[in-house]
Amino acid sequence: MADDTVEVRVSPPYPVTVGENVYRSIADALDPRPCAILTDSNVGPLYAAELGRSLESAGWTVVGVVEIPAGEASKGVAAYEDVVRRLARMGLTRDGALFALGGGVVGDLGGFVAATYMRGIELVMLPTSLLAMVDSAVGGKTGLDLPEGKNLIGAFVRPALVAAEPGWLRTLPEAEVSNGLAEVVKMGLLAGGRFFEDLALIPAARAGDAVALRALILHSIRFKAEIVAEDEREGGRRAILNYGHTIGHALEAAADYALPHGSAVAAGMVAEAGLSAERFNTDLTNLHEELLEAAGLPRRSPGIDAEAAHLALSRDKKRTAEDGRADHRFVLLRDVGLPVYGVAVGDDEARRAIGAVVG
Ligand SMILES: NC(=O)c1ccc[n+]([C@@H]2O[C@H](COP(=O)([O-])OP(=O)(O)OC[C@H]3O[C@@H](n4cnc5c(N)ncnc54)[C@H](O)[C@@H]3O)[C@@H](O)[C@H]2O)c1
Ligand SMILES: [Zn+2]
Repeated sequence: MADDTVEVRVSPPYPVTVGENVYRSIADALDPRPCAILTDSNVGPLYAAELGRSLESAGWTVVGVVEIPAGEASKGVAAYEDVVRRLARMGLTRDGALFALGGGVVGDLGGFVAATYMRGIELVMLPTSLLAMVDSAVGGKTGLDLPEGKNLIGAFVRPALVAAEPGWLRTLPEAEVSNGLAEVVKMGLLAGGRFFEDLALIPAARAGDAVALRALILHSIRFKAEIVAEDEREGGRRAILNYGHTIGHALEAAADYALPHGSAVAAGMVAEAGLSAERFNTDLTNLHEELLEAAGLPRRSPGIDAEAAHLALSRDKKRTAEDGRADHRFVLLRDVGLPVYGVAVGDDEARRAIGAVVG
């Protein structure tokens, strides 16, 4: 199969390639130079050596491989300090590049490192999880967590290249595939049209059908790239990507982040589909449930305390400086392919929507 390329039309634009030859994509986009590879303890042993060898044989100088422990705990200030100090000791120079080889954690940390190390070095995103391929590697948001909250530190960066090789997903645990599919379902519902129809490919993609998987990855990247080109810094329409996430984040916080993100967003979408039904007199709840079931995701979050989730929702609202407003702002679906953002939802309604998916 030939590689597919999607261009993210920001300035300067950058390509996102999907295919079996990331090395050709790298050679097309960048001249060889000194570089380092950032990866995690699961992905590194699988793919970092081959990446290093291929870069070296293409004329790059790999000054080192920095491996962080796999998991969200590595997206913190301590890990950041550790990584940049290791890069400094390895002698990575200002004209160097950083390859972020891994899931969203490596991408978010690596992106922030590349944005700040020596005031900014070139970044190449090599997403290896489905979530990273379809969502986090595209769009330029990077983030670090603080004990006070997730993604409280960050910067927008424009990578020189994002290159995804779907073959990497063969080693991704099934639960992580479902996690990524939560974002695919979300974007398919937001996009409508052919993307939405192709959500029917989800069972085939989960069963390992490479063509189905690739189609869903490409739909997602094209959709996200289009929205990012329109509204890179989330002044407006990019907010639609938060569908299912307003309540999803509240569920995650109420569970002290023990709930997988995909599961939280799945239940969040069901709750927000309920709100959409009340507001727009459409009923997409069954559709949501069928798609999420096909993706191997739960439709509810039993065991989560409704009060704790409601409290988290209210705290989240404060962060968006909407203190003056009595109500919450949601992305709702008027229909498939017809999202509306900034919809005011009263506190009681929000409480009811949470109640419908917890307990
Ligand atoms: N920047 C953004 O726009 C954005 C968007 C969504 C999510 N995020 C962030 O992304 C992170 C979640 O990303 P994630 O779900 O990829 O998590 P992750 O990076 O922790 O990866 C999930 C797990 O899969 C493993 N893994 C990754 N690729 C693998 C492969 N090919 N084979 C075997 N194992 C593999 C990882 O080691 C990890 O254990 C969160 O921190 C979230 O905040 C950022
Ligand atoms: Zn998400």
